[in-house]
Amino acid sequence: MKTLKLDIRKSGIAISDAMKQQALEAADLLYSGKGAGNDFLGWVNLPSSISDEELDKITATAARLREKADLIICIGIGGSYLGAKAVLEAMSNPFQYLHKQNNNPTVVFAGQNISEDYTYELLEASKEHSIATIVISKSGTTTEPAIAFRLFKAEIEKRYGKEEAAQRIVAITDKARGALKTQADNEGYTSFVIPDNVGGRFSVLTPVGLLPLAAAGIDVRALVRGAQAMEQATAQGVAFDENPAAIYAVTRYQLYKSGKKVEILGSYEPRLQYINEWWKQLYGESEGKDGKGIFPASVTLTADLHSMGQYIQQGERTLFETIISVAAPRHHITIEHDEANLDGLNFLAGKRISEVNAKAELGVQLAHVDGGVPNIRIEIPEINEEVIGGLLYFFEKACGISGYMLGVNPFNQPGVEAYKKNMFALLNKPGYEEESKAILARL
Ligand code: PA5
Repeated sequence: MKTLKLDIRKSGIAISDAMKQQALEAADLLYSGKGAGNDFLGWVNLPSSISDEELDKITATAARLREKADLIICIGIGGSYLGAKAVLEAMSNPFQYLHKQNNNPTVVFAGQNISEDYTYELLEASKEHSIATIVISKSGTTTEPAIAFRLFKAEIEKRYGKEEAAQRIVAITDKARGALKTQADNEGYTSFVIPDNVGGRFSVLTPVGLLPLAAAGIDVRALVRGAQAMEQATAQGVAFDENPAAIYAVTRYQLYKSGKKVEILGSYEPRLQYINEWWKQLYGESEGKDGKGIFPASVTLTADLHSMGQYIQQGERTLFETIISVAAPRHHITIEHDEANLDGLNFLAGKRISEVNAKAELGVQLAHVDGGVPNIRIEIPEINEEVIGGLLYFFEKACGISGYMLGVNPFNQPGVEAYKKNMFALLNKPGYEEESKAILARL
């Protein structure tokens, strides 16, 4: 398999044997299950344990939705949203909607916000389409997707009747608990289980990511194949110097220890923008606790050089950057010679746009390193399902190692509850009477 290449030569980090040992010990905790949060390690061997039967059930359900609907509304938030969104964006032609011919249903997302306008506009637009929905919530009780599901469920039932609605709604949730599980059982929806031992942000390779992607026409078998290869490449017993996840984890850990508190993930391919968003959740929720953790930020380049470039070059020197570099574009465009040369661009004539992009990347890397922003470079050969599957698993494995090196539980997110408590108190949710009184007194 063509895979990623990690290059830390411009990070300024030299990894000592002691550090290598520390990383391998942190990685071992993922296998021995002796670290914090050990009831959430199901993702470690997930790619190799996905069965053909499960993939068959996913692709068969996706085929049913594709047959019934030309618009599939995928409802979820956080880990129940970002993985599918990230891979879908990476694999999609951003201008598909401008093409007259489109054989795939459009997959859109809801329940990742509580915006009335967003919800209204999507509901209105959905009226011009035949629709189905995939509702995803591990807990089955998250407010944002629950609101969106209530609305889209009602819309589907109103249009098609309850019996047909049950064919157009698929639920992905816990095997036994939560309001969504109860609804799925009562209404007879096809449902998929999110394994107990896989947390939301590590769930992209479960039905959470795979079903919406299969429904969108993405080759999920290739995605899983790529993740399986990366699982092998970063497995227990692989020497440190051969293990890109361990090397990435240690490099960023040492940068953090040297005062680099912000990691900027960037790419020169706009398709990867939502990989950044998925990565931000993965690292932010896994490491940002106990007063510790690198702040994960992101840029899309070269666009953000004209907005964030100034700060990165000369602002607070607490930054380092990790660039996902794509070796080969999918398409080919050459810049043509122009007789008048009024724009002065003839020095580029005959060059491909990707050559210019690559030189921009190199120039930026050198400028940022000179400006005190260390650089980690992850080169992927191209953007396809297999490569992206490998990239996702690479980041997950590195995140587990990195969290343990930092001394936190990478698999919980206690801080996420704080806003929910306040929101429920302000909305007078039953059971929150005391909190309501207390919060109203503060206003
Ligand atoms: O990583 C996580 O666990 C969270 O981001 C969850 O995915 C997010 O809060 C959504 O939760 P749920 O799937 O229970 O609705």
